[in-house]
Amino acid sequence: MTFEMVKTSPITGQKPGTSGLRKKTRVFMAPHYLENFIQAIFNSIGGAKGKSFVVGGDGRFFNRQAIQTILKIAAANGAARIIVGWNGLLSTPAASHLIRINGTDGGIILSASHNPGGIDEDFGVKFNVPNGGPAPESVTSAMLAETLTLSSYRIARLPDTDLDVLGETELGGMQVSVVDPVEDYLALMRTLFDFDAIRTMFAGGFSMCFDAMHAVTGPYAKKILEDVLGAPKGTVINSVPLEDFGGGHPDPNPIWASTLIDLMMSDNAPDFGAASDGDGDRNMIVGRGQYVTPSDSLAVLVANAQLAPGYAAGIAGVARSMPTSAASDKVAEKLGIECFETPTGWKFFGNLMDAGRVTICGEESAGTGSDHVREKDGLWAVLLWLNILAVRKQPVARLLADHWAEYGRNYYSRHDYEAVPTDAANDLMGNVIGQLATLRGKTFAGQTVSRADEFCYRDPIDGSVSDHQGLRIWFEGGGRAVLRLSGTGTEGATIRVYLEQYQPDMSAISQPAQQVLLPLQQAVADLVRMQHFLGRTKPDVVT
Ligand code: G1P
Ligand code: ZN
Repeated sequence: MTFEMVKTSPITGQKPGTSGLRKKTRVFMAPHYLENFIQAIFNSIGGAKGKSFVVGGDGRFFNRQAIQTILKIAAANGAARIIVGWNGLLSTPAASHLIRINGTDGGIILSASHNPGGIDEDFGVKFNVPNGGPAPESVTSAMLAETLTLSSYRIARLPDTDLDVLGETELGGMQVSVVDPVEDYLALMRTLFDFDAIRTMFAGGFSMCFDAMHAVTGPYAKKILEDVLGAPKGTVINSVPLEDFGGGHPDPNPIWASTLIDLMMSDNAPDFGAASDGDGDRNMIVGRGQYVTPSDSLAVLVANAQLAPGYAAGIAGVARSMPTSAASDKVAEKLGIECFETPTGWKFFGNLMDAGRVTICGEESAGTGSDHVREKDGLWAVLLWLNILAVRKQPVARLLADHWAEYGRNYYSRHDYEAVPTDAANDLMGNVIGQLATLRGKTFAGQTVSRADEFCYRDPIDGSVSDHQGLRIWFEGGGRAVLRLSGTGTEGATIRVYLEQYQPDMSAISQPAQQVLLPLQQAVADLVRMQHFLGRTKPDVVT
């Protein structure tokens, strides 16, 4: 008997509303834990019989072992075919693309994104639906409910599949296709961007540093930037995916990618710098001497997308998450295209993209992408920037200055207060919510509130309502502060404070963002009684 039915007990403690399950690696490694969750995924979508799925991950510790388990459970559940990345590797956007072009019934992506990897670090399992996007809340709730009631899983007791050899094999009657993780993704990128123009730019001496942070985009970036586009060898650094990402956080922001930032601010800076996260869906863009905030990056991409062949006909609309700055709104207004404000999380963009209402989407947390897949896509953003630079032939700093001169500048920063005791975080938020209706006209540290509310989103396509999506406070003079609790933190609560100050007239010299935002920061600290609830007013992480 090769298929075994194993009795199991429920797993508990997941946060509803997230698009998968993210836990410490050892939790996933505990007997029956991963097995239980995978069986729950299959049960909640009506079984795996006769179905096909894409499976791959970001290469972190436990990735390969987890894939073997998933293959055996899929086989025992009667799946027809699994498409798996060579060596178990698939970036999140590449997995999304494979689901779409192969018309599979979904995909299982193994990653904890930008969080560290290792036996004592993080692991995650995400289910993507047939449109290639993260499972919507209705699907994940069903999955998580299933983990609490199922009492057994089916697993094939068969040898491991060799993931290092490309091609077709068979496992207990199920077809396993080990595919090159880069090939189809590269073919897609060729349809979107002017590779010749970018190649010419590199041939003309344009220099770049791409930090793959020892994560999954290493092989993608090496192949596309160095082999295909002709960037000099060594353009991609930290290009070999490691199980522990070399001990760092594969998080492309000025804190965790500080080596790249330091290089870009130095005398030896190349023309262009970029980085991507663990699973390749986030990106950081930095020019020589010029960091580009993700909100500004989104606005620049929307304003210039038509320079790339894939968007030459123009874009349908743009969507940004609520805390993301309104810089892209200004561009949308000028272009006369629709512009949407959605709750935090990529899944809220899916319906708008499927309905053809938006082409480009972005989040302040370093996520940008378009309707070419249904995930955010780090390398896509980098290639679109390269295409734009190849056409405009301007340094990043010049391009950004011109952008601000045209649209005004949305000074922007996110302040995170991490590992806050959950009660203190809830008390602080509850206290502000209690005052929302009466804030208008009140002054805090010299800043007068002009409007305040709690963000509630009604999906324009399916009418579903998501409430309690963060507090918005506007101030006279173009300031806005947003407060919300993180849904992805692993220790206590994380309070995120997003500060934005619009400056329409950029004829004045640009000032450092933190300096411009200081009055807002102080007003928020006063308004939410930060010292009283948290015993501090200084954030842990400023991005
Ligand atoms: C964070 C980001 C959010 C992103 C999510 C998943 O969520 O802020 O934009 O979609 O990670 O990558 P948060 O911890 O703020 O809930
Ligand atoms: Zn990610």
